[in-house]
Amino acid sequence: MGVVTVAFYSIDGGVRLHGDVPISGAKNAALPAVVAAALASDGESVIENVPQHTDVLDLLAILEELGVQAAFTGPKTLSIAASELRNHRAPYAPASRLRASTYIAGLLLARLGRAEVALPGGDDIGARPVDFHLRGLRALGADVGVVHGAIEGEARQGLQGAQFFVDRQSVGTTCNLMIAASLAQGTTVLQNAAREPEVVDLANLLNAMGGRVLGAGTGSIRIEGVAALHGARHEIIPDRIEAGTFLLAAAATGGRVTVHAVIPEHLQALLEKLRMCGIRVRRTADAVTVDAPARLRALDARTEPYPGFPTDLQPQIVAVLARADGVSVIEETVFENRLGYTNDLVRLGAEIRIIGQNTAIVTGVETLSGAPVEAVDIRAGAALIIAGLAADGRTEVAGVRHIARGYEDLEGKLRHLGAHISLVDA
Ligand code: UD1
Repeated sequence: MGVVTVAFYSIDGGVRLHGDVPISGAKNAALPAVVAAALASDGESVIENVPQHTDVLDLLAILEELGVQAAFTGPKTLSIAASELRNHRAPYAPASRLRASTYIAGLLLARLGRAEVALPGGDDIGARPVDFHLRGLRALGADVGVVHGAIEGEARQGLQGAQFFVDRQSVGTTCNLMIAASLAQGTTVLQNAAREPEVVDLANLLNAMGGRVLGAGTGSIRIEGVAALHGARHEIIPDRIEAGTFLLAAAATGGRVTVHAVIPEHLQALLEKLRMCGIRVRRTADAVTVDAPARLRALDARTEPYPGFPTDLQPQIVAVLARADGVSVIEETVFENRLGYTNDLVRLGAEIRIIGQNTAIVTGVETLSGAPVEAVDIRAGAALIIAGLAADGRTEVAGVRHIARGYEDLEGKLRHLGAHISLVDA
C-alpha cells in the first residue's frame, strides 16, 4: 500500500509582491485547439505556447487513445498528427475529469460519425449541464444523447450544416460546434455565439488548417464546412485569466507587478476595476503594470460574458476586496453556484454575506489572518492563495490538484515575485 500524500500550498503572508512575470498560453484556448488539430487528416500541426498543466495533459491522454499522435517537441511546442482515428470511445478516467472533453464528442462525430465520451467533470461550481452541446450537435444532424454517464452519438450520413442559436453565449458550445461544423456538409451559422478571445483563437487555427470560419469575435459565426482539413502552425494566445490572477495578487498585497507576454485588450474589464480601486495601471503593447496602494477602495462588479468582467476572475477579486476600504457588491451571473469558496475566505477573517445564491456583499476588513483552507475549484484555489498572500501569518491551501489543472508553476512564479509560498507534499 502506498502512502497517501495530501499536497498543500504553505504561504507566509504579508509580503508585497514586486517584479515581472511571464504569462503562459491560455488554458481555455489550448484545450479546443488541441482537439481541433486532431480534425486534420493530412499533415501535422505545430501548436506553440501550449501550457503544460493537467487539463491539457489529460486531454492529450484521451486523444492518444483515439489514435492521435501528440508530443511536446519543446517546453511549449506541441506537435499533433491524426491521419487516422481508430477509436470512437474516449477513455473514462481522463474524460470524466475534464470539462473540455465535450469537444472530443464534436471531433469524433465530425471525423468518424460516432462518439462515446464520458460526461465531463471540471470545476465544482454548480451543475454543469451539457444540454446546449447536445442540442447543437443534434441540429447538425447527430443522433446524440446521454447514456450510462456518457455522451453517445452517431451521424452515419455525416454532419450537416445548420442554423443554431447558442443559449447563454456558451463558450464550450460555441467551440464544440465550430469544431464539429468545420467538417460538416454545408454552412452552419451560430447565433448568440460566445465572443471570448479563446473562440477567436480557435477560429484562427481552423482557418489556418483550411477551414472557413467567419465572424468569430462577434455574436454570429459562419462556418462553411470543408471536405478535409490539413495540419497548420498556430500560437495560442496568452492566458488572460492567469494574467488577471497575478495582477489581483499584486493588488491584494499592495504590490507592483508587471505581467508580460499578454494582450492588454483582453484584460480591459479587469483593468478598469483595478483603476476604480485606486490602483495605478500602465499598459504597453504586450505588458501591464499595476502599482497598488496598501489599502484599496471597495467597488461593485458583476460577471458577464466577454468583454464583461470574467467569471473566472470573480473569486480572485472577492479575495482582494476582502481587505478593501468599504463595502463591495459582487454579483455572479454566469454560473449558478460560484460563491462556495467564500466560506473559506471567512475562515481567514473576511466579512462576506451571500444574498440569494449569486451575490456577495464584502465588507472590507483591515487584516486577514492565516488559517488552513481548501480549494474546491481552480479559481477558488487562486482566490485562497491571494487571500493567504495578503493575510498575516501562515495559510495552508489544500486542493492543489484543482489549481494544477490550469496554472503552470503558480508557486514558482509567485516566489519569483517575492512571495513566501511553497508546495508541501504531506
Ligand atoms: C468555459 C471555460 C470556463 C469559464 C466559462 C465561462 C473552458 C474549458 N472553460 O466553460 O473556464 O468559466 O467558459 O466563461 O473553456 N450551460 C448549460 N448547458 C450547457 C453548457 C453551458 O446550461 O450545455 C450553462 C453553464 O452552466 C453556465 C453558462 O451556460 O451557466 C455558460 O457556460 P459555458 O460558457 O458553456 O462554460 P464552459 O464552456 O463550460
